[in-house]
Amino acid sequence: LASIEVDVAAVEEGQSITVQWRGKPVFIRYRNADEIESANSVPIGDLPDPEARNSNLPEGAEATDVNRSAEGKEPWLVMVGICTHLGCVPLGESGDFGGWFCPCHGSHYDTAGRIRKGPAPENLLIPPFEFVSDTTIKIG
Ligand code: FES
Repeated sequence: LASIEVDVAAVEEGQSITVQWRGKPVFIRYRNADEIESANSVPIGDLPDPEARNSNLPEGAEATDVNRSAEGKEPWLVMVGICTHLGCVPLGESGDFGGWFCPCHGSHYDTAGRIRKGPAPENLLIPPFEFVSDTTIKIG
């Protein structure tokens, strides 16, 4: 399917779900305030990859937390769940930065899905998506 619609009404703050889109896992996470604050506290200059990697923004947009999150809904993160190193699927709520950890070669992503440590060269990719209602996300 080129695009899918996902009902996230049952996802509570602090929870994640994984859906399949074009044969790839997509992580959808409803973040809590601590996760957002933690991501916002990092200067862009400290990020190995300073680009947002958000398909919904112009290329080259900065990897601020707001540029990584859903437009107008900063608690929500939607990301392709494929490590940008060699393509393993990272584990959620793990790693040194409280986000995702790829056990294949040790890449640590933060609570905005940005690479912070390890061999992965880029932040986790954000696919084209939008909230088409308050609780429905259309991906693709
Ligand atoms: Fe994730 Fe290598 S594939 S660290």
